[in-house]
Amino acid sequence: MDEARTHPSLWTLTAPPREFPPLTGDLTVDVAVIGGGMAGLTTAWLLKRAGKRVVVLEMNRILSGQTGQTTAHLTELLDTPYSTLRRDFGPSGARLAAASSRAALEQVASLVEALGLDCDFQRVPLFRFAETVRELDALERELPAAREAGLSVSLTHAVPLPFPVRGALKVEDQALFHPRKYLLGLADRIPGEGCHLFEDTRVLDVQDGAPCRVVTNRGVVTATDVVEATTTPLNRVFLHTKLYPYRTYAVAGPLEGSLEPGEYYDSREPYHYIRTQPVDGHLHVIVGGEDHKVGAAVDTEQCYAALEEYTLKRFPVKRLTSRWSGQVIEPADGLPFIGLNRASRHVYVATGFSGTGMTFGTLAGMMFTDLILGRHNAYAALYDATRVKPLAGAKDFLQENAEVAFRFVVDRLSRPDGKHLSEVAPGEAKVLEVDGKKVAVYREPDGTSHAVSPVCTHLGCHVHWNGAERSWDCPCHGARYSPTGKVLNGPAVRDLPSRKLPR
Ligand code: FES
Repeated sequence: MDEARTHPSLWTLTAPPREFPPLTGDLTVDVAVIGGGMAGLTTAWLLKRAGKRVVVLEMNRILSGQTGQTTAHLTELLDTPYSTLRRDFGPSGARLAAASSRAALEQVASLVEALGLDCDFQRVPLFRFAETVRELDALERELPAAREAGLSVSLTHAVPLPFPVRGALKVEDQALFHPRKYLLGLADRIPGEGCHLFEDTRVLDVQDGAPCRVVTNRGVVTATDVVEATTTPLNRVFLHTKLYPYRTYAVAGPLEGSLEPGEYYDSREPYHYIRTQPVDGHLHVIVGGEDHKVGAAVDTEQCYAALEEYTLKRFPVKRLTSRWSGQVIEPADGLPFIGLNRASRHVYVATGFSGTGMTFGTLAGMMFTDLILGRHNAYAALYDATRVKPLAGAKDFLQENAEVAFRFVVDRLSRPDGKHLSEVAPGEAKVLEVDGKKVAVYREPDGTSHAVSPVCTHLGCHVHWNGAERSWDCPCHGARYSPTGKVLNGPAVRDLPSRKLPR
């Protein structure tokens, strides 16, 4: 069977596979953590260390979601400029955003040291570089706000890149690591002493209460507290109006010349992000970018092609040895939502990490640990998951939600691509009209066809075909499905129903 084509990332290719068993029956714990990525595994490990009985419930394999598809920068320089954070959250909010990112970076560093995790952790400088006068002006304007927030940042013209740039903001003491090696080190330590890690266990429903109930396809977990660490929260309408899902792409290859280890970002919109990574003693470069809205009508193969061209032109690389893509969730007002879910007393959510998933995923684990243990957390108010800031990001909010409404209506009214299976060539996907109903059809290269409902099981938008990843993607809130309808990404929790095609 031809399933979705998840290109294995450099991390997956360079760290051993690991298998954990599925849940078998009902279970009672203190905390149920949904999602086996950075936020989930960090939460589980910190709570276990504090004496809690924890279970991690992962739908597929741990680190198979967005954490497996990251480029793993640990950084204080966030996607939202500090000048914007200062305007929307005040000078103290901007300072807290910087301090919390620093705290997350140091949390990773301290776990690496305390547990002896062999994960290529390395402190490096970060450069956000400008290639035009206009971009340089923008960096100069950002400098005082970043300094005021507490970053150790300067404007420099000495940028160690193999192509000319006009200058860069340089932030000292950021960090790189191998996320899979790091998190497998945490995952291996979770089972035992009343704690569990289950894979291949899909959560179908979360019921807040005292206790909470987490209904899975393999049993019911009863827990005092529940953490949803699932990139995008499961079936929450309120939060989804404030989250905008994007696809992003990455490529990597061995360097044939020198490049100073570090984190580099250009100033384009959307930007490219670059880093180094040692693999078997040979330094590689990783380049990411070419972001677009999930489910947008773009040629996704072309996104890889553009990124490969960018990389080969600018870096001393002759061949690219891996490529992968991931999902980025942009928050409406520029900062993640981390904390108790709306109208919940015991269900916590963490989402909207933008392009800084490793930093904010770690921060979420630290914050959940404090909140669940009843300890004060200095960042809780800033990242409050129930906050509403009507002015911050208002333009994007209106535009993004108008687009969701537009897609909901237009895709329903749009004409199908055809009526007969014969109109779908091998390797192609189309939406056909069969007996007056739309059917999403993919034909494998050998001619075998898979037919599913095109109606997303989250809130009913219609899915679009993603050729590069061979998946059906929902443009409304970012759910993704395999050609056979299996959920790949939330917020949907139920598969697309299969459909019969006339012979
Ligand atoms: Fe919300 Fe599809 S993800 S409708």
